[in-house]
Amino acid sequence: MILDLECRNPAELREDWLPLLHTAADAAQKTEGVAIPLAVHVLITDDEEIHRVNREQRKIDRATDVLSFPAVAYPPSRHAANAQELLEQEYDPDYGAAYLGDIVISMDHVRAQAQEYGHSLERELCYLLVHGLFHLFGYDHMEENDKRLMREMEEKTLSDIKVEPYDRNELIARAKAAMEYSYSPYSHYRVGACLLGKSGKMYTGCNIENAAYGAVNCAERTALFKAVSEGEREFTAIAVATEKFLGWPCGICRQALYEFAPDLMVIVACKDEVDSMPLKELLPHGFGAAPDKLGKE
Ligand code: THU
Repeated sequence: MILDLECRNPAELREDWLPLLHTAADAAQKTEGVAIPLAVHVLITDDEEIHRVNREQRKIDRATDVLSFPAVAYPPSRHAANAQELLEQEYDPDYGAAYLGDIVISMDHVRAQAQEYGHSLERELCYLLVHGLFHLFGYDHMEENDKRLMREMEEKTLSDIKVEPYDRNELIARAKAAMEYSYSPYSHYRVGACLLGKSGKMYTGCNIENAAYGAVNCAERTALFKAVSEGEREFTAIAVATEKFLGWPCGICRQALYEFAPDLMVIVACKDEVDSMPLKELLPHGFGAAPDKLGKE
């Protein structure tokens, strides 16, 4: 897909995001299943400008994250994949492709939402682009069924591209901060953890030792137990920070985490060194939660 990108403040658009945005746009087209060449104009701006566009074009007097202006007026229950002849009418010789329409994205909202959901900036930006593209393909989210379909298309697209859905640097920074609270007078091995819940909330923990050694609690389980005891049961990733060498979670923590999040990504960090591995690889053939089966005949 031709992405005609216009950026009001080019300094805030990192160079390595450009190939990612192109990949996201191509993945969206593939998910939708449109074979002909397409072009889209994307303006990346701030809250002030998107507010003005929203007021002038849609009579809605507020800023928002993303706005889309489709070139095609899709008849009910039709969208790009089954309205190719309508798209062909939008052929634009300047692009040498069918012009889908315009998307406007506010970087102020990208930043705020990335922070709120624990997403990376590039993940949030890609999501808003993909969301805007599906509007240009004729999807909307006014009714429950339509909304579900649109979300499915978006999720399929995002899972097809390699964009880490969270900001690992943020998780690592929080794990390192939590390490400062480590109570480890016996081992002097300080550990901090930051566990990211599906809600976007982050839970930190440190290791807490005891004169009776068996009462020691690892940083990972401190974070996990804090989270579960506050109602969160699904998790995306955990960062574990140590001081001297990379410290992968112990066997007990792997098992405790596996109960709630077999698909968890485990990130370990020590000074400037970082490594990561899915929990499923750290605990092969893990003993999984099946509360409905356990205890039954
Ligand atoms: N520890 C953790 O916090 N996480 C692990 O995964 C491994 C071990 C802590 C427990 C104890 O306070 C210290 O490290 C030494 O075992």
